[in-house]
Amino acid sequence: MSRTIKIFDTTLRDGEQSPGCSMNLSEKIEVAKQLEAMKVDIIEAGFAIASPGDASAIEQIAKTVKDSTICSLARCAEKDIDAAWNAIKQANSSRIHVFLATSPLHMEYKLKMTPDQVLESIAHHVAYAKKYCSDIEFSAEDACRSDLDFLCKAFETAIKAGATTLNIPDTVGYMVPDEYAKTVRYIKEHTKGVENAILSCHCHNDLGMAVANSLAGVEAGIEQIECTINGIGERAGNASMEECAMALKVRKPYFNVECNLDTTQIYRASRMIQTITGVPVAPTKPIIGANAFAHESGIHQHGVLAHKETYEIMTPESVGITKNAIVLGKHSGRHAFEDRLKELGYNLDSEKLDKAFKKFKVLADKKKVIKDRDLEALVVAVPVTDFEERFVLENFVINSGNTITSTAVIRVKKGDEVIEKVAGSDGPINAAFRAINKMVDKEIILEDYNLKAMTEGEDAQGEAIVKLSIDGSEWITGRGVAVDIVEASIKAYLNGINKYYSEY
Ligand code: KIV
Ligand code: ZN
Repeated sequence: MSRTIKIFDTTLRDGEQSPGCSMNLSEKIEVAKQLEAMKVDIIEAGFAIASPGDASAIEQIAKTVKDSTICSLARCAEKDIDAAWNAIKQANSSRIHVFLATSPLHMEYKLKMTPDQVLESIAHHVAYAKKYCSDIEFSAEDACRSDLDFLCKAFETAIKAGATTLNIPDTVGYMVPDEYAKTVRYIKEHTKGVENAILSCHCHNDLGMAVANSLAGVEAGIEQIECTINGIGERAGNASMEECAMALKVRKPYFNVECNLDTTQIYRASRMIQTITGVPVAPTKPIIGANAFAHESGIHQHGVLAHKETYEIMTPESVGITKNAIVLGKHSGRHAFEDRLKELGYNLDSEKLDKAFKKFKVLADKKKVIKDRDLEALVVAVPVTDFEERFVLENFVINSGNTITSTAVIRVKKGDEVIEKVAGSDGPINAAFRAINKMVDKEIILEDYNLKAMTEGEDAQGEAIVKLSIDGSEWITGRGVAVDIVEASIKAYLNGINKYYSEY
């Protein structure tokens, strides 16, 4: 029988801790539900000790998700492990993930601990975690720059103390595939008790080899891949889940392993992470980039038309990309709308369906035909605005041209109060943002602004993404979608501000 490779997703921990990728509570819960829907085996929901917000998000996820194991990270410190357990204890299945660095560099300069002290700390803290939870993962941080015999000793110590999964992180993305495979084999041959534990890989992408190293790990006997949606994560990111999973699926005869991930949910998960974080993927990104299934050259088009497999090693449908069919219009009813969403994999509860349907009707007044990408743009926005909106756009007027100062008049509702402000600037969008700034008694810094067409054609919907820092807060992502790009930008700006008020 072939081995089964477990998928351990760390989008909500390693991914979320990378700059510009932070998520709020409702966004984290949406992501966790999507990970469960795609049959991820283990969800690393956060690092409970990092902040009360992290701890409560993990706790909510532990209460919500039923089918995946929920995991929290913890350093080798009792307070970390207590916090991790408190956050995950209500899950159907829970795991504590304890880590400590084992490389000479980290031990000397970061931990200021001797190798013996590191071994003692592993023994003590893994055993401490084991009192709470039977499923314990131990990670040797910077394993790939550690002395191999010391690394084996660290893993032996962790196994004796109760660890059931041993993770071999390439923390700084330093390895090449053959070297990573050799490291895994060495650990398998020289660690007492390793046959009773699951070996795991956790590869960073600093040299662009995170996926290749993870797959080399699989060939060498790894049984768990740690990865993130879209490969987000510290610095150059982590191994991308979609690339690892599709490599295992497309090259199944080569790897000869099973994997339970439902790959038809990949596209949806990827869109969700791009929308929530406001971090887009490159068009050439394997599996989910805009060009991943596009055949531009005449020779390729001819080949694909004659026989798909000439230039296509997997189908778009296998990752959940549906054909961009014309589906709905302004006369379509709620049932047709709901049915099409279900076909696309979106099962919204009735409250979210109501909100999405209202947005659909507004959009259908502006666009004759609504395509699948339009629907996705609508529904992906729904969970993101799943909080009380302090400022709701009523209307706006913009006066702009290349020989005049742009002016914006913005009118919003704040509860029952109507607020209207006017501002000028050298561009219409900046004028609109300045008018909104006058309504908010906070210092708002626009850190980043991005605009793109979500669908093709003249009446394409524009998606604006802003990153705001408000009164020195972490960057907050705001998103707005509209046929009019100024409207999309205003909505994105207000969305960011409303998010700020929902969290602070
Ligand atoms: O990259 C790393 O070493 C980590 C560990 C905490 C597993 O993220
Ligand atoms: Zn990492």
